Amino acid sequence: MARSLTHIDLINSAIKAKEKAYCPYSKFRVGAAILTSDKIFTGSNIENSSYGLTICAERVAIFKAVSEGYKDFKEIAISSDTERFIYPCGACRQVLSEFVDDIKITLINKDGKEKIVYLKEIFKETFILKKKIIGITGKAGSGKTTISELLRENGFEVISADEIGWEILKNDEIKEKIKKIFGEGVFKGSEISRDLLRDIVFKNPEKLDSLNNIVHPLLLKELRKRIDSSESEIIFVDAALISYWGIEDWFDKIILVKSNKNVKRLKEKGIKEDIIKGILKAQDDVEKLKIKDVIIIRNDSGLDNLKKTIEKILKYI
Ligand code: THU
Repeated sequence: MARSLTHIDLINSAIKAKEKAYCPYSKFRVGAAILTSDKIFTGSNIENSSYGLTICAERVAIFKAVSEGYKDFKEIAISSDTERFIYPCGACRQVLSEFVDDIKITLINKDGKEKIVYLKEIFKETFILKKKIIGITGKAGSGKTTISELLRENGFEVISADEIGWEILKNDEIKEKIKKIFGEGVFKGSEISRDLLRDIVFKNPEKLDSLNNIVHPLLLKELRKRIDSSESEIIFVDAALISYWGIEDWFDKIILVKSNKNVKRLKEKGIKEDIIKGILKAQDDVEKLKIKDVIIIRNDSGLDNLKKTIEKILKYI
C-alpha cells in the first residue's frame, strides 16, 4: 500500500520526538506522534527520580493534543532505539481507547523499519466506567427504524423495544391470554398476526389498553435486562413509548425523531388511514419528554441528509 505524505510526516515526527526524551534512568528513548484532523502532536517519555511518576511518550502526545482541543485521532506512530518493535504499554492503550474505538499504530524500530498494528487487536477489552444509553423515540413513521439500521451498519448495538414486543407475542402463555381477549381471529396459523392485531387495537383504545397491559410489563423487564447485560460501551434503544412508560431517566440522552412525512410513510407500508389515525392518537405524548438532554432530528429530506445528521450526532455523543 502506498504510504501517504501525512503518514510519512507522522513517522518522521515520531522519530524526531525521540530526541527530546528525558530518560536519565532507563536511557530508553521513546518518541510518539499522533495525527489529528489537521495537526500532528508529538511526545517523548519523561522520567522522574521518583520512578512511578514517569510518563510514556504516547500519553504525552495524546495529552498535548487533548489539552489543545484535538481528540479526533487518525493514527499514531511510536519510535524506539531497539531492534525489536516497542508496543504501547497497557496504560497508553487504555488512554487511547478513551478517544478511539480503533486506531492504526505504526511501530518504528531503530533502523526506521515499520510494523503496523491496530488498537483493537492489541487491546480487546477496555475498562468502561459507565455505559452510555441513548434512546431513540418519535412517532410511528418518523424514521426510527431507518436510523437504527444506519447505527447498526456503523457497528453500534441497537435494542428495539418493538422487536422485543413481538418476541413476547410468541410466548405460549401470552398467546393464550391474547386468544382469550381477542379470539382466534388475530392468529395466522399458530402465531399472532401483527397486522390483524394492529387493525383491532388501533381502532379501539380499550383493546389497546388490554393488549398493553399484557405485553408492556414483560417488555420493560426484558428491555432493562438487555440494557444491563449488554457489553457495548454505547447502547441505543429504539422505543416509541419512552415518554408513555415514563422511563426517560434510563437514558443519558434521547434522540427525538420528527418528520412531516410520517403519515405518507405509514400509508406506503400499506396501513389503512383509520388505523394510522389510531396509531398517531395513541402516540400523542411521544414528543413530551421529561429529560433535558434531547437531540431533535428532522427526517423530512431523504436518506443522504439523515446519514449526515447521524454522523454529526455520533461525533457529539
Ligand atoms: N515507555 C514509553 O515511553 N512508552 C511505552 O509504551 C513503554 C515505555 C518509556 C517509559 C520509560 O521512560 C521507559 O520507556 C522505560 O520504561
